[in-house]
Amino acid sequence: MSQDQMKKSAAVAAIEFVGDGDIVGVGTGSTANFFIEELAYKKSSLKGAVASSEGTASRLKQHGIKVYDLNDVDSIRVYVDGADEINGGFEMIKGGGGALTREKIVAAVAKQFVCIVDETKLVETLGKFPLPIEVIPMAREYVARCLADLGGKPVLRKDFITDNGNVIIDVEGLSLTDAASFENKVNGIVGVVTNGLFALRPADVLIVGAVGGARVTQRA
Ligand code: A5P
Repeated sequence: MSQDQMKKSAAVAAIEFVGDGDIVGVGTGSTANFFIEELAYKKSSLKGAVASSEGTASRLKQHGIKVYDLNDVDSIRVYVDGADEINGGFEMIKGGGGALTREKIVAAVAKQFVCIVDETKLVETLGKFPLPIEVIPMAREYVARCLADLGGKPVLRKDFITDNGNVIIDVEGLSLTDAASFENKVNGIVGVVTNGLFALRPADVLIVGAVGGARVTQRA
């Protein structure tokens, strides 16, 4: 089974979590794109979606799914998104695609976060995947120094500007045994907009696409 087939099988299984009349929160990335394709088959029973990036919004629209501004929506029952890494406590690193800020906002609003991944994303300890941090451009060098003080190697993402007009610093060389406390520390650096750790708000459901089909687990 290819990695794409694993991603697709997780995306197919996530459709079970979408209810009639829902406004679904939709993530960003190649796995979320498989989910959008599946969601399109169900669009007549959906109210619509809230997108976590401009890219996802335009894909949803191309499939004829109505996209709502988050400010016009009181609540989101379910948010479906991928991850770059996820551990046994369903804490994640996200933002490989640079959409971490809007992803974190939609995840904060959603009652249930369903994370869809292929099995290569499962890790014991977060940090092998460089941690993306969205930063206000004028604070770039200051934030990079602070991140180095926290023990990482900050690398500015080349030729990349987020949907919010900011830059991304990817932090290499981390081993995050206490991801929630690291998330709080990075949040405390002035100039950081969002960091890609989703430990304070982990996923509620993990769907792993794997050889032999999708495995669905609820967070303990
Ligand atoms: C987007 O900014 C990310 O958070 C993605 O959700 C994450 O990078 C997973 O992407 P893939 O599904 O493409 O691996």
